[in-house]
Amino acid sequence: MVMGIIKDAIAKNLRHPKSGPVGWFVSKYVFEDKNRYLEKNAVDVCKISKDDIVLEVGFGPGIGLKEAHMKIKDGKGKVYGVEISQAMLKKASHSLQTEIKAGKVELILADVAKLPFKSDMFDHVFHCNCYYFWDDQVACARELYRVMKQNANVIAVMNEQGLKVAEQVGVLKYGNTDPFKYMDSLKKAGFHDIEFKKLKSARGHPFSAIFAKK
Ligand SMILES: C[S@@+](CC[C@H](N)C(=O)[O-])C[C@H]1O[C@@H](n2cnc3c(N)ncnc32)[C@H](O)[C@@H]1O
Repeated sequence: MVMGIIKDAIAKNLRHPKSGPVGWFVSKYVFEDKNRYLEKNAVDVCKISKDDIVLEVGFGPGIGLKEAHMKIKDGKGKVYGVEISQAMLKKASHSLQTEIKAGKVELILADVAKLPFKSDMFDHVFHCNCYYFWDDQVACARELYRVMKQNANVIAVMNEQGLKVAEQVGVLKYGNTDPFKYMDSLKKAGFHDIEFKKLKSARGHPFSAIFAKK
């Protein structure tokens, strides 16, 4: 009974982290600890250049944003992030306050379904453990397509083994991790060269990435 309540609270906070104790736990021990290498690898596979305009969707505490900022800090590039969670926006804004003040990072409370950006703006879009929670994946993919420049890539990164365990335990019941459903949504939105790749980090940790080109 108590375990069920705890698992349900974790499941809700994985989808939309809140500012309470469970949101704090999920951010610290899942996003900042377990998922750190995924965020870093998401940025690596993007192959960002110093003048690029980059978007991360569902940035959580901001690990990937910091990593992406390292790639553009010496150029004309800029990193944008959107999040639906006020708690994650606050946390990431705090850890990236210097980069935000310098005008190199901008974080916005927004849903991927309705992005507050003009069309054809981004050279790279990435998200890590995020598409599972989008209610209408086709509409969200269309919105990503709209804001991306021609030939830009959108990259989604995940740890399949970790997802399997999380699903078995029951903490992903408010999401749909099926990569093929997401890839089909990308196709319906107009993306091409859609590929699912099993990769390894520089330290040998396995992860998977879905690539799609506008
Ligand atoms: C499981 S967490 C992943 C956080 C981080 N990317 C990571 O891998 O550690 C999913 C994040 O996506 C955000 N999110 C979920 N649905 C979203 C949407 N429709 N638009 C923007 N962000 C969303 C949540 O608020 C949450 O912070």
